Amino acid sequence: MQNRLNLIIASLALVAAAAPAGAAEAPTFAADVAPILYEECASCHRPGDIAPMSLLTYREVRPWSRAIKDKVVSREMPPWHAAPGGVPIRNSRGLSQDEIDTIVAWVDGGAPLGDAAKMPPLPTFSDNEWHHPSGRPPDHILPMPVEMEIPAQGELPYITLYSAIPFEEDVFANAIEMLPSNRSVVHHLSVNVTTLPEGTVLVDGQAYDAAGAPLTDEAIRAARGADSNALGGATKLICFVPGRGFEMFHAGVAKRVPAGKALQWSLHYNATGRPEVDRSRIGIWLSDAPVTHEMLSRTIGSPLPTTPDRTLPVIVNGEEVPRREVPVIPPFADDWAITMQTDVSEPITFYAISPHMHLRGKDMRFRLVWPDGRDEVLLDVPRYDFNWQTEFELVDPLHIPAGSRLIVEGHYDNSVRNRYNPAPHREVYWGEQSWDEMFEGWIKYSIDSQDLSKPATE
Ligand code: HEC
Repeated sequence: MQNRLNLIIASLALVAAAAPAGAAEAPTFAADVAPILYEECASCHRPGDIAPMSLLTYREVRPWSRAIKDKVVSREMPPWHAAPGGVPIRNSRGLSQDEIDTIVAWVDGGAPLGDAAKMPPLPTFSDNEWHHPSGRPPDHILPMPVEMEIPAQGELPYITLYSAIPFEEDVFANAIEMLPSNRSVVHHLSVNVTTLPEGTVLVDGQAYDAAGAPLTDEAIRAARGADSNALGGATKLICFVPGRGFEMFHAGVAKRVPAGKALQWSLHYNATGRPEVDRSRIGIWLSDAPVTHEMLSRTIGSPLPTTPDRTLPVIVNGEEVPRREVPVIPPFADDWAITMQTDVSEPITFYAISPHMHLRGKDMRFRLVWPDGRDEVLLDVPRYDFNWQTEFELVDPLHIPAGSRLIVEGHYDNSVRNRYNPAPHREVYWGEQSWDEMFEGWIKYSIDSQDLSKPATE
């Protein structure tokens, strides 16, 4: 006890000596700035993660202090692409004005360390562990069909692999996670559920027909057939981008992993300067509560199905068009607009929104017109950035009555001013590669009248 008291008195004396009497107390790294960086920046700015530099220790942060001030004042960091307003989003990122002011005052005050004893403990991250809050391991683990070797250098193309879903009957995931084995190389990974043509043979993630010839994209698309969706029948299962990879649903709500179908793995890796390997895995947690509602994902503009094969027209810019004919962006167009809509024909519950465009995507806005005509902006992404495939999760699920209309509006910049534009002189069509385009306003929802715990009537 006596020792401890001495220690406290000694450290009080140290603080008193450090702060000249009367001077306004400038924020210090140890006491004021490190807690903000650990909370808001360290998840990406640490060794082995996606940001270019680590911001954990004073030595690491000090040389970046000016850049940090600029990026937080301009609100470029932490990265967040939605405008204020809209529905409250659970996973939003951003600093409060107080936090920004603290960082600015610290930099302007010479970016001092302050009393090192006040440093908060280094944040810990459980990268190679599953993230279910109960700590319980997944009930099923589905690994990538092969380990990928990522070369040390160069821009890597998108890679597609297939694996069979190994279940005898449909499995319902109340929580699901994509866990890379090597986060430093993963730019993004996404997995869709898809149908492969009869007789397909899968070898090391590659799909062949019965005669042993590699399956063409056309053949795979044809097999997906009439299950009408923007991805031609493939439905999103899970994806990993920094800060996104674990999903958990409300009790009784679950994602279906259908038996007899295949997983389509779309992989995008970054070279790190060293040869690397990765074999990511999907973890599935079954529901404790009886599953009543299926978590569905569709794009606005495609039908929101209770019967998945019901075909509603795709309305683009007010006119009905054949699916897949959008977008078509003229050369050099700098503000090409597109709108799609879906009429909600029965009550749904709405959980999350994911905008998806490619390199020419400029902005996307999601609106809901209620049956009484009220027109509400749900989400506005004024500076769409292809590198950030964010899913915006609603704090509170939104109940949307029949007779409502969901609308997604967007713009493309195919001009030379768009620094990501690979070819402004080209007319741009729908396509899966990033130099082609897509217009997909994904939403996650369930159908209120559904009750999977009851036997189907029919
Ligand atoms: C979700 C991940 C993420 C978070 C959170 C994040 N950053 Fe970043 N940061 C990045 C990435 C990726 C880059 C490099 C690419 C870019 O600029 O978008 C970057 C770049 C930067 C740069 C510019 C580096 C350069 O080369 O000029 C600064 C400064 C910075 N971040 C500071 C911060 C600060 C301060 C915070 C917290 C308040 C923060 N970042 C939070 C991912 C993140």
